[in-house]
Amino acid sequence: MASNKMKAPASDTKEIVDVPWAYRDTVARLSPGGRYIDMESDVDSPWVPFGESAAIKHLMFDVRTNTYSNILWMKGPGTIGTHLHRGNVTMVTITGSVRYLEYDWLGTPGGLILEVPGEAHTLVTEHPEGCKLFGWMQGPIEFYDNQGNYADTVDVWWMITHYETYCKENGIPINAKLYL
Ligand SMILES: [Fe+2]
Repeated sequence: MASNKMKAPASDTKEIVDVPWAYRDTVARLSPGGRYIDMESDVDSPWVPFGESAAIKHLMFDVRTNTYSNILWMKGPGTIGTHLHRGNVTMVTITGSVRYLEYDWLGTPGGLILEVPGEAHTLVTEHPEGCKLFGWMQGPIEFYDNQGNYADTVDVWWMITHYETYCKENGIPINAKLYL
């Protein structure tokens, strides 16, 4: 039986170790830095209405890679119209449940949903309390009407505009921490 050659040990102490890292100063000068963003409260980011019965809590915008993160809250049974992904989506159901008309599975709390470029699908929640979905999205998403006509493209610029417009209209300071 092959032995495990991985060397990373579990620590038996609780202390900060000074790692010998040659590029520390360059990283400090150029890296946007990691950060913590609260998702449970409105301290870092407000719920921004998205249509009549949904809201988005924006968590992160990265304009260099067209990547954006948020929580989509559907407040009751409803649909997010058919859309075509040009990039990737990593999503986790936090509350309620969600499914796609095109697939045979039901996403429930704690489950991981992966979407890849080229997929077109229609998101629905039939849960009486809707759903909250954490999403980490990269690339544009093209929305189509129910006749298959192109309607709009959602990307990092759309998300920033959605967030900033609401903040300006409601006197909420723009949170620089959301911009990676
Ligand atoms: Fe999708």
